[in-house]
Amino acid sequence: MTAPIVEIKDIHKSFGALEVLKGVDFSVNEGEVVCLIGSSGSGKSTLLRCINLLEKADSGMINVFGEDILHNKNINAYRAKVGMCFQQFNLFNNMNVLDNCVKPQMKVLKISREEAVKNALTFLEKVGMRQFANADVRMISGGQKQRVAIARALCMNPRLMLFDEPTSALDPEMVGEVLNIMKELANDGLTMIVVTHEMNFARDVADRVVFMDKGRIEEEGTPEEIFMNPKSERTAEFLRASANK
Ligand SMILES: Nc1ncnc2c1ncn2[C@@H]1O[C@H](COP(=O)(O)OP(=O)(O)OP(=O)(O)O)[C@@H](O)[C@H]1O
Ligand SMILES: [Mg+2]
Repeated sequence: MTAPIVEIKDIHKSFGALEVLKGVDFSVNEGEVVCLIGSSGSGKSTLLRCINLLEKADSGMINVFGEDILHNKNINAYRAKVGMCFQQFNLFNNMNVLDNCVKPQMKVLKISREEAVKNALTFLEKVGMRQFANADVRMISGGQKQRVAIARALCMNPRLMLFDEPTSALDPEMVGEVLNIMKELANDGLTMIVVTHEMNFARDVADRVVFMDKGRIEEEGTPEEIFMNPKSERTAEFLRASANK
């Protein structure tokens, strides 16, 4: 049994009077792929954002890579080890594909342009975007943008990757190309937490599926346990509703 890379105990998070996380315990082991599912507003993004400190949990404990991140003084060094891909890509529109991958490395990892370009081309190749290195990011498709966003994150050599609905903003024909890249990363052994509505992906790729409901973890288990034999009626109801979409 490997030590957990992410260990969360009893975190709470409110926005004003709205309590969004109501005591969440959650852990992820090295090399594990965990899919977070649940209805809109259940707190999935907030949980992810608490892990990379885009939000600060009000109470509880979050240990990542053995560090107590809620009391961490060096947020930038921590964030460099955690890759994040969002629904809306968040690429820099004023830079071409290559520079989107190169500039953050130079800034955060403080490496030479030459070395950064070498890394960038390796990861652009991995996501099938090397031939678009000089393209204007405004001119490529949504699926291609998301693949560049993944390459950009991989360039930082993250120990953990967080994905927040990376395919939700894509046209249906582009969803597969992004999910296939993610599947490959999972097979390479990258530790990943993936918020997704893609139940087939969760079933095929996740080591563990976590169902969140109203700010709590309602149920978690292997894909087989969750999809074939959910214990909670609320989980079963959510899955039935998802299947009918
Ligand atoms: N910065 C914020 N300020 C105020 N309320 C927020 C903020 N971020 C999230 N919320 C609220 O917290 C609740 C949970 O949001 P969250 O984005 O975590 O849900 P989610 O499970 O990711 O939902 P979805 O599937 O729609 O993305 C929602 O009611 C949302 O409106
Ligand atoms: Mg969300």
